Amino acid sequence: MSSLSAIAFARQNHPRFLEELKALLRIPSVSTLPEHAGDCHFAAEVLAAELSRIGMENVRLIETAGHPLVYADWLHAEGKPTVLTYGHYDVQPPDPVDEWHTPPFEPVERDGNLYARGAVDDKGQVYMHVKALESLLMTRGSLPLNVRVLLEGEEEIGGEGIAGFVASKPPELKADFALISDTEMFAPGLPTLCVGLRGMIYTEIEVRGAHTDLHSGMYGGAAPNPFFALAQILARLKDEHGHILIPGFYEDIIPPSPEELQAWHSLPFDEEHYRISEVGARQLVGEAGFSVLERTWARPTLDVHGIPGGFTGAGAKTVIPAKAQAKVSMRLVPGMTPAKAFAQYKSYVEKIVPPGVDVEVRLIHSGDPCLIPVNNPYIQAATRALHEVWKKDTVFIRSGGSIPIVGDFAQHLGIPSVMMGFGLPDDNLHAPNEKFHLKNFELGIESLILFLEEAAR
Ligand code: BES
Ligand code: MN
Ligand code: MN
Repeated sequence: MSSLSAIAFARQNHPRFLEELKALLRIPSVSTLPEHAGDCHFAAEVLAAELSRIGMENVRLIETAGHPLVYADWLHAEGKPTVLTYGHYDVQPPDPVDEWHTPPFEPVERDGNLYARGAVDDKGQVYMHVKALESLLMTRGSLPLNVRVLLEGEEEIGGEGIAGFVASKPPELKADFALISDTEMFAPGLPTLCVGLRGMIYTEIEVRGAHTDLHSGMYGGAAPNPFFALAQILARLKDEHGHILIPGFYEDIIPPSPEELQAWHSLPFDEEHYRISEVGARQLVGEAGFSVLERTWARPTLDVHGIPGGFTGAGAKTVIPAKAQAKVSMRLVPGMTPAKAFAQYKSYVEKIVPPGVDVEVRLIHSGDPCLIPVNNPYIQAATRALHEVWKKDTVFIRSGGSIPIVGDFAQHLGIPSVMMGFGLPDDNLHAPNEKFHLKNFELGIESLILFLEEAAR
């Protein structure tokens, strides 16, 4: 089988692949921080150069209002399907930097893992795609199917640029299915396909009281305090049982089918291990009557990420700040839409605002939830490839995270996504000491090589 030589090539070249990935990880392509815009552009250029080097064609950066997209294709497999591979080269900010054991942008191997910001989310996984393509091209001189590569640099900030591009249905994106490696395996060694993601709305609430900051002795007692008003608003968004109090918020939810719930039940999940090792808190919280997997995969959330404003320096300052803000997001599940959820939330917040202050509710970004039908030939091909490499049956899971473009691929391009990810539950995504398990990098490339061959059948 031709794939064997591609796999042999990947094994032989593993040390080089790893060194190249480290070079990519040294680029601090933090999409949300304006001072890293140049690094984002550079990461895109490095990936484009590598795609050209391995023999991909029509390689180019597509500029957007934000960070550029990277496009490449190889379309010489006549009569074969076309895959659109997607990934993101941008990363989350590394803070709190003090909690990293080694610097976030100086990748190091330790205990079979590669530590760096972006190691698994998503540069390491994007690089698996590139190296799978290289292994096939270098050994067969061709690819088993037609391939289009699309990378973005704004996934972690909502992906506005790519959303506009995909919505315009450009001929460059004509494909039969998408392949995405930006999710996790349910457990080490357990081949996993993710078939559902939550959507989200990310918002900001701004509360304004006095026209300027005030001396808290001179005015305290008479002037409204926007932080206190904000706390009162936040406290009324969710009750002590984890129930979101926005009227109508839950009304359109499509619950998982009994079969899907049954399948989740047989997954190897130890709640106490999850609480201690992954969460590390005294107790788990959430809606009564729902398991942890249901709470994180099939129920909406409302979370506060930060409350900027006022005095936060060392020491004390007696001030009544003029304004206070909160960053609040909601994860949405199938049936819910960002537009309706935001409208319900905004009107509720405006209704419960305490006297003496004004409130403004802003939408920063949003994305649809998604649920992938599993009865398509590409999902079937994926399970065959995964079995070959991991010697186990694939589990189908959902994930509580969001990849906004998956919904757009379905809606605008009419294609399903195969979400074949190789992260692990303890990879510390978005947190200090993010890592990628090196064995997964290696076997992930092999799985992708075999999948591309299987999908071409
Ligand atoms: N790769 C993650 C999403 C993810 C994580 C899926 C774990 C499955 C398992 C992605 O990079 C991410 O972090 N997305 C953001 C999207 C948001 C900013 C729109 C998220 O989920 O917070
Ligand atoms: Mn990601
Ligand atoms: Mn992420």
